[in-house]
Amino acid sequence: MKKQIKNNISWVGVIDWELKTFHGSEYSTHHGSSYNSYLIEEEKTVLIDTVWSPFSKEFVENLEKEVDLKKIDYIIVNHGEVDHSGALPALMEKIPDTPIYLTANGVKSLKGQYHKDWNFNVVKTGDKLDIGNGKELIFVEMQMLHWPDSMATYMTGDNVLFSNDAFGQHMASQELFNDKVDQCVLFEEAEKYYANIINPFNPILRKKLEEILSFNLPIDIIATSHGIIWRDNPVQIVEKYSEWANDYQENQVTLIYDTMWNGTKRLAEMIAEGISSVSPDTVVKVFNVTKTDENDLITEVFKSKAVLVGSPTFYNTCMHTMEGFIHLVKALKFKNKKAAAFGCYGWTGESAKILRGLMEDAGFEIIGDDHRAMWAPDETALNDAFLYGKEIAKKL
Ligand code: FEO
Repeated sequence: MKKQIKNNISWVGVIDWELKTFHGSEYSTHHGSSYNSYLIEEEKTVLIDTVWSPFSKEFVENLEKEVDLKKIDYIIVNHGEVDHSGALPALMEKIPDTPIYLTANGVKSLKGQYHKDWNFNVVKTGDKLDIGNGKELIFVEMQMLHWPDSMATYMTGDNVLFSNDAFGQHMASQELFNDKVDQCVLFEEAEKYYANIINPFNPILRKKLEEILSFNLPIDIIATSHGIIWRDNPVQIVEKYSEWANDYQENQVTLIYDTMWNGTKRLAEMIAEGISSVSPDTVVKVFNVTKTDENDLITEVFKSKAVLVGSPTFYNTCMHTMEGFIHLVKALKFKNKKAAAFGCYGWTGESAKILRGLMEDAGFEIIGDDHRAMWAPDETALNDAFLYGKEIAKKL
């Protein structure tokens, strides 16, 4: 059922309450998500984006109830990823000649995924499309935010920015608008989305935010493609993005470890106590990597000024859980963060050195020597870990 966003603009998307993971299993979605598609009914009728392919049939059937599909003059594809373009094949079967407006990379993306030669119309930043009643759509390329084909569309008159993935959150909500939902959940999900999806593109985002602001376009609503729509003070999420894009950190240190017989776990706990004893205002958090959602952990890394990683030595290396997690950390290109490594061992003891190398390779500045404890830590070893934590705190 369509829902009015403003004047002649309606939401015609799908709420995915059941979604538990996104991007395959790469991203956990504790609060579900939505695929937001928008219908504009001015002199011209325009559809902005569609929904994920499993919802194609439902989407097209619902749309047909709201509008005669043959009346759709233009389709805007802000981004070709399948969660937004997935219903296009079903829709285009019904209206095969309808012009589709998208970036040059968008054409590559749709052709590559659907192998169809639809009526593509390539647009660039600043190109405009007259939709009647004195209103226009203005296109803004958003290359690498977060795909090479990404684009945003601004509607004059109603001052709505259809931002696609940018400013979104994976959050299902019947209420649709930011002033209607739990603010803690909203900002938690927006920050998680930023840390796990947008962070690698910080330098590009900084320039793009400047460019968008330089247009001096009034923005009444930011209509994202996932989650809630920002209508109450929409600039607040732009300001948050400006803050997050500048190598964000809080006064937080995070310890992340795996453990076999709890020795490395005890080291982590004592190091944490040592840090807190020197720096009581620093938030110190400790996580077992195998017992924590890895995307939530990424949000903790995002907020941290230092990340300490631990593992016992296991077959001359560290545990694969830690290596896998640091692989994800590296992909997200965090900057301006410090790291150190620790771990227990019985025989050869390479794990801390290997973890340190992985964190260095992921772009972290290493502070402190590797901290190791042989066999199960006794009182002396636990005290050494505490003292190590104190030394780390002085280097933050
Ligand atoms: Fe929501 Fe990049 O797709």
